[in-house]
Amino acid sequence: MNGPMFDLTGRSALVTGAGQGVGAGVARALAAQGAKVVVNDLRPGRAEAVAADIVGAGGRAETAAFDVTNLAAVTAAVGAHGPVDILVNNAGVGGEHPMAVQAFRDMDPAAWDGPIRVNLYGVMYCCHAVVDGMCDRGWGRVITISSGAGTAGVNIGVSPYSAGKGGGLAFTRTLALEVARHGVTANTLALGLMGMTDPTVTARLARSIPVGRTGTPMDVGAACVWLASEEAGWVTGQTIELNGGAVTT
Ligand SMILES: NC(=O)c1ccc[n+]([C@@H]2O[C@H](COP(=O)([O-])OP(=O)(O)OC[C@H]3O[C@@H](n4cnc5c(N)ncnc54)[C@H](O)[C@@H]3O)[C@@H](O)[C@H]2O)c1
Repeated sequence: MNGPMFDLTGRSALVTGAGQGVGAGVARALAAQGAKVVVNDLRPGRAEAVAADIVGAGGRAETAAFDVTNLAAVTAAVGAHGPVDILVNNAGVGGEHPMAVQAFRDMDPAAWDGPIRVNLYGVMYCCHAVVDGMCDRGWGRVITISSGAGTAGVNIGVSPYSAGKGGGLAFTRTLALEVARHGVTANTLALGLMGMTDPTVTARLARSIPVGRTGTPMDVGAACVWLASEEAGWVTGQTIELNGGAVTT
């Protein structure tokens, strides 16, 4: 092996929902390893701020403001920004537990749509736009950000979110099998409890986690760097629980 491990120089990455939180951390981590990052978000201002930060730190970044649930917009953006070697499906909505919960029995069916469209169709649309190119070029990495809500169903009151997150990871696993022979891997990170804006809530959540703290965007960024690397080429079709040791199955 020549040079440091996990070098992403020369790779181009698209990170969806990267205007804040986990996605912003992932974008920064990939850029720090040398990847050019296309920072997507529904909100252009958020994407611009993160991209400017990356460029300010000496990295390479562009912005692409589009809605992952709009297939035409996704396809157009991928066409405009060039080949995508690494796709991180991070954009997600509907998991605001424990702040906002509603039992399925009390829920208006109209509320199902958003979480399932973003967390499942958003993943499928972005994959649709990039996977042919990855297979043609013989190299690609798909990383889907899911949740313990999609694996073990650990959260009460977010059933459409659980359905979307579970769907996203099940889709990613099957995609992995179909593209494996083309040098493309597809894996899922099922996140546990991440830090919240309210430090009191974060401290309370941390007490239930074996390592004693909630997750950070950089915890997820580091895992994405590994999965995106050349060295992780034998890892595919997996769902990795990134949750500080919380037993979920
Ligand atoms: N925060 C947690 O505790 C937690 C736990 C498990 C899993 N996750 C998952 O991690 C991912 C990131 O979570 P977060 O807490 O950083 O979220 P967040 O809400 O802080 O940020 C998500 C970003 O995605 C953008 N976005 C939303 N809908 C979009 C769309 N349709 N198209 C493009 N961009 C869109 C938003 O504008 C926002 O900037 C999500 O997939 C979430 O489900 C989070």
